[in-house]
Amino acid sequence: TLSKVGLVGLAVMGQNLALNVASKGFQISVFNRSYEKTQDTERRAKEEGNLPLVGFKEMKDFVASLEKPRRVIILVQAGKPVDETIAKLSEHLEAGDLIVDGGNEWYENTERRAQEVAAKGLLYMGMGVSGGESGARNGPSLMPGGPKAGYDLMEPIITKIAAQVDGPCVTHIGPGGAGNYVKMIHNGIEYGDMQLIAEAYDILRTVGGFSNAELKALFEEWNRGELESFLIEITAQIFGVKDPHGEGELVDKILDKTGMKGTGKWTVQTAAEISVPVPTISAALDSRLISGLKEHRVQAAKLFSHQAPADRLGGLSKKDLADHVRRALYASKICSYAQGLNIIRTMGEQKNWNLQLGSIARIWKGGCIIRAVFLDRIKKAFDRDALLPSLLFDPEFANELQTRQASWRKVVSLAIENGIAVPAFSGSLAYFDAYRRERSSANLVQAQRDFFGAHTFERTDKPGSFHQEWAN
Ligand code: 6PG
Repeated sequence: TLSKVGLVGLAVMGQNLALNVASKGFQISVFNRSYEKTQDTERRAKEEGNLPLVGFKEMKDFVASLEKPRRVIILVQAGKPVDETIAKLSEHLEAGDLIVDGGNEWYENTERRAQEVAAKGLLYMGMGVSGGESGARNGPSLMPGGPKAGYDLMEPIITKIAAQVDGPCVTHIGPGGAGNYVKMIHNGIEYGDMQLIAEAYDILRTVGGFSNAELKALFEEWNRGELESFLIEITAQIFGVKDPHGEGELVDKILDKTGMKGTGKWTVQTAAEISVPVPTISAALDSRLISGLKEHRVQAAKLFSHQAPADRLGGLSKKDLADHVRRALYASKICSYAQGLNIIRTMGEQKNWNLQLGSIARIWKGGCIIRAVFLDRIKKAFDRDALLPSLLFDPEFANELQTRQASWRKVVSLAIENGIAVPAFSGSLAYFDAYRRERSSANLVQAQRDFFGAHTFERTDKPGSFHQEWAN
């Protein structure tokens, strides 16, 4: 019998997604450039209960095994490998067939490819897939973008393989590269969340003297409240893992230098491009960049000393510190999501993608890396007002920020006094403070610009554009 769908690229994500599809009863054909991975996948399909999965050695036979119109998911490395795979596939595909790229691809590449294959009558989509290995196997969050006709072809399958929370964690995001774009911003928000958690950790251990065991207990407790989320949950687990090669916990032995593949950087780039301020997400990216300068940091640590206050906690108990940090983390997180969602909204408007922020929040409730109870609250905020200009204006979130301000300021001040960099906490707070001030200091910058460049300025008291001969 012919397969319902095909999948090309059997690295970790591809292999697990293929098994997920098969386990939902859809027969799937798979292909990989090197045949061993195909055999591995077939072996796993057998072991996991004779799942309906068929491997192929030749692309031609793979394509011939698919029901028409053919549906092919590709999960190869973003960039050139995607172009190569499309070229090979299109030798065998026919008008009306559909290609779905499930990688973390730059959205403009998807739009270019959609145009290229349209010449042959092929449909093309870019579908963000979040949730890592286990998400791919057991239910990811899926962000498909592209033609509605393509979405309709995929819908019966993707609504079954996606994570299920109040319905499947998938929706037609929008046309063109909208799916890739939204997945990219998901990753930018993921960078922000991870950095905020890392800063909370730094304050708790450095200022509060929390041990890994105490941190584990605290994060477990946090995961039962407003911060409940996948990232808080795994962080609690991390604190409990012993070093397999020695004493103590593994987390203390890990080199403090972060890797990255690029989606966080793209998020900051696109935000700047469309003039959306994202200080928290930028801080997360900057922190990764600074972490990479390990040799410099080792040198600078010898050069500059800082005398931490004798009473590091400034009179607080450890319990009080933990409560303040929890509130500060939550408030910072609201600001970070407000930034990420503003990028999505602004780009959506520019591209006429007609994006539904509430639906996007809904499909992030399960499966993906940023999944959190909090996303349900965001979804509800957009249910109350689909055109909400910023999360900060939703009455519930506004109230939460308002009531956490004192803790937030306390934590940032304590960190600064103790010489600990908390760029995401303080970036969020600065964003909040800048937002909530009717009159900023930009009047002076305008005066300077007009002084040296005759760039002109507007006045507060009359309309028009003005220039002053400033020099005396
Ligand atoms: C996901 C993750 C996934 C991947 C990131 C990591 O949603 O499942 O975001 O896409 O883990 O690409 O990005 P960095 O390597 O840049 O941290």
